[in-house]
Amino acid sequence: MQYKRILLKLSGEALMGERQYGIDPNRLKEYAQEIKQVIDKGVEVAIVIGGGNIFRGVAGASQGMDRVQGDHMGMLATCINGLALQSALEDQGIHTRLQTAIEIKEIAEPYIKRRANRHLEKGRVVIFGGGTGNPYFTTDTAAVLRAIEINADAILKGTRVDGIYTADPEKDKDAVKYENITFKDVIEKGLKVMDMTAFTLSEENKLPIIVFDMNKQGNLLKLVSGENIGTIVDN
Ligand code: GTP
Repeated sequence: MQYKRILLKLSGEALMGERQYGIDPNRLKEYAQEIKQVIDKGVEVAIVIGGGNIFRGVAGASQGMDRVQGDHMGMLATCINGLALQSALEDQGIHTRLQTAIEIKEIAEPYIKRRANRHLEKGRVVIFGGGTGNPYFTTDTAAVLRAIEINADAILKGTRVDGIYTADPEKDKDAVKYENITFKDVIEKGLKVMDMTAFTLSEENKLPIIVFDMNKQGNLLKLVSGENIGTIVDN
């Protein structure tokens, strides 16, 4: 395996599947099966999942809600998704632990870095809920932060497109995919990979970001095996 320990970032919206809102149990099951394939190869997997399928702080703020209040709701949304994912993974026979950045200790463990590391060493999937625990930070930033803390080899950002393109491939049919690109080039070309806070944190800590299509079966395993099926951003 090319990667021994990964931080998988999943978007909340992806959990909606064909729905407009909430969680599609089929999509959840597919993701759990994809993750099982890499666990079976001995890869250590930590996961950060977004909450946009339930609530987005920024969207709330744009409709007049207090931003901090909205972000707190978003953090809880990531915990709901984390619980759903935990359940789906356990249905596949995978051992998991959910750790949250905000304490809800009747439901999940609080985030403790050393403990997360032990869980990973024992082959458990660790899901990090509650973002960074602070408003104004995205779950992409939480994903990069946790990836650095646990010394992940890379952050794998599962999306519905298969990499980073010269333009938005859903709008521009002439858009061309990059196989590799540097952090510097992403910034110079104004490409959108993650928000700037997340992106610069990743760059400063030399954490490669790999953008790939999580909805295509077998992709996650191909990626951790070393196949370049997405776009790798590194120094
Ligand atoms: P090891 O000691 O490495 O085997 O890890 P462990 O997670 O099995 O240890 P522990 O005995 O602490 O945890 C047993 C179970 O309780 C696990 O399912 C944990 O996720 C859960 N657990 C531990 N701490 C908390 C907590 O603060 N809140 C909640 N809700 N569950 C917890």
